[in-house]
Amino acid sequence: VSAPASPDWAQVQRLVVQGSTLHRSWHFLLRARHPGEARRFIEALVHEKLISYASAREDAPVGGCELGIGFTYRGLQHLGLPWEYLRLFQEKAAAFAEGACRRAAQHLADTGASAAHWWEPCFHPDHAHLVLTMHADQADELRQCTQTLKSLPGASGLTDWAAPLEASHLTDQRQYRTVHFGLRDLIASPAIKGFHPRRKTMHEPGEFVLGYRNDHEFNPWALHPSPSGNLWLPPLSAVKPNFFWNGSFGVLRKMEQHEREFRCYVARWAKKLGVKEEYLRAKMNGRWDNGQRVRPGESEPPPNPAPGELDDFDFLDDPEGKGCPFGSHIRRMNPRSDNSVVPVRRRPLIRRGMPYGPLYDEAKERGKPAPPRGLLGVFFCASLEDQFEHLLAEWGDANPLGPDNRGNAKDPFIGSHIDPKSVFDIPLDGEKLCQLEGFEPFVTTRGTLYAFFPGMAGLRMLGESH
Ligand code: HEM
Repeated sequence: VSAPASPDWAQVQRLVVQGSTLHRSWHFLLRARHPGEARRFIEALVHEKLISYASAREDAPVGGCELGIGFTYRGLQHLGLPWEYLRLFQEKAAAFAEGACRRAAQHLADTGASAAHWWEPCFHPDHAHLVLTMHADQADELRQCTQTLKSLPGASGLTDWAAPLEASHLTDQRQYRTVHFGLRDLIASPAIKGFHPRRKTMHEPGEFVLGYRNDHEFNPWALHPSPSGNLWLPPLSAVKPNFFWNGSFGVLRKMEQHEREFRCYVARWAKKLGVKEEYLRAKMNGRWDNGQRVRPGESEPPPNPAPGELDDFDFLDDPEGKGCPFGSHIRRMNPRSDNSVVPVRRRPLIRRGMPYGPLYDEAKERGKPAPPRGLLGVFFCASLEDQFEHLLAEWGDANPLGPDNRGNAKDPFIGSHIDPKSVFDIPLDGEKLCQLEGFEPFVTTRGTLYAFFPGMAGLRMLGESH
C-alpha cells in the first residue's frame, strides 16, 4: 500500500490541524491498569464515534464537547502494540520512544526548578499511558462528557480520572485570546497545503501528519517494504502503515508563569530606560499587546489591522531587528523569511495551548503567595526532534539567530535564564541599541508529555484484539 499524496483530513484528529475555539479544556492523563480493558475502552470510543476529526472546512460548527486522544510510547507498549510497530517508533521517532522525562535536561532545556525530577507526578512515564483531551465552552459539558466516557465499556481499566489538568481562556472572544503576562496569543498558526487557504508561506502536510511528504520533499513514514529488507527497520511486511498515517506527535507541556516577577522586571527596566512597559513587553515578545507585530520605527502599537494580516508577514522589511528584535520570542520561534538568518529548515509547530489559573491582579495578590497560573501548552508536529525540541533547546535556549545586534540572552519568556549577566539587544534607529539584562526564569516547567495522536485507522487498530 502506498500513502496517498495528501491526507484524507477526515481521518486526522481535529485538534491537530483544526484546533478548537472553545473556552475550556480538560486533559486526562490516564494509566492503563488493565490493558485488555483499556483496549475495550478504545474500541468503544471508536464505535460510539466520540473522537473529533477534522472537517475540510475550518469554520465547522462550534458546540458540544470535542475529544482527542493520544498515547505515550510506554502506553503503546503497555497496550501490547506489536514489537514491529514499537521498533519503527524507536527508529523513526526516538524522542517519542524515549519520552519527555528522559529528554528534559538535554533536549528541552529543563534544568534547575524546571528539571523533570520536580515535575508533577501525573507526567511520570509509569503513570501517563494515555491522554484524553476534551474541549467545551462550559464546565458542565466537560463533566457530562467525562461521565459518558467513564461509563463506556473498559473505562474501569483506566485509572486517574479524578484530577484532569484544567485550562480555560482568559477572554470570551473566540478571535481574541490572551495568555498570562498580558499578551495576545493564538494568532500565528502554520498554513498547511490542501487544508488552509493560501498564504505567503505554506507547509506540506508531512510537517505535521505522518505518511506524507514534508517541506523537504521527503516522507519518512512512507514505509515501503523493500525486497532486500532494511537492516535498520523491522520487517515492514509485518506492519500495516496506516497505523501511523494520519497520526501526529503531540506535546502536552505545563508551564507555570511567574507574572509578578515578570511585571516587576519589565517595570524596573522601563523606568531605567525611560520607555513604556508595553514597549518593552512588545520588544521581548515581538508583538504589541494587541497582537500586531512590532515594525521598525514604532514606539506605539498601530491601529488594529485586518485579522488576516496579523500572521501573513515575513521579516524582509526588518533585516536589522529594529522592529522585532532577533532575540524576541516570536522571531526565535519562527524566523519566517529572513534574509539575515535564513534557516535551512523552517521547523513549523502547531500550537493549541490554553492558559490555566486566574488573571493576574496586582492589588489582590500583593503580599500573598501567587496562585498557580501559566500555560498548558499543546503542540503538534511530525518530528519532535526537528521541530518541538529544536525550537526549545536551540532557537529558544541558545544565542538568538541573526547578525551582531542580537545579544546573548535566551528566549525572554521560555529561556532558562541561568546567567543573569546575559544581554538582550534591542536595536534602535541608526546604530543605537538598548540592552536588557538580569533576566530571571519567568516560566517554570511543571511537566511534559509526548504522545502519538493516531489517525482514525490507527485508533481502530489499537482497539482491536483484546
Ligand atoms: C509560558 C510560556 C509561553 C508564553 C507566555 C508564550 C507566549 C507566546 C505569545 C504571546 C506568542 C505570540 C502570539 C502568536 O503569534 O500567536 C507566541 C508565539 C509562539 N510561540 Fe510561544 N509562548 C510560550 C511558550 C512557547 C513554547 C514552549 C514554544 C515552543 C517550544 C512556543 C512557540 C511559539 C511559536 C512557534 C509561536 C508562533 C511564532 C510565529 O509564528 O510568529 N511558545 N508565544
